[in-house]
Amino acid sequence: MIVCSCNVLTDHDVRTACQAETRPRSAGQVYGCLGCSAQCGRCARTIRKIMDEALGAAEAACGGCSGHPKP
Ligand code: FES
Repeated sequence: MIVCSCNVLTDHDVRTACQAETRPRSAGQVYGCLGCSAQCGRCARTIRKIMDEALGAAEAACGGCSGHPKP
């Protein structure tokens, strides 16, 4: 599903960016990871939501470690 019509980014693109070694910490960094930049900004809230889901799932999968406590 396309979540950013300005840059034609899909939810899959955002999840992929969240799995990068240097995990983006903001919607702005997600655009950077994907080689583009925010245009109208309408998608920022949706991208943030996908990031929260993707990063929350990654933490749950690792079961917590010294870097971050169990959810
Ligand atoms: S819809 Fe993403 S910047 Fe416009």
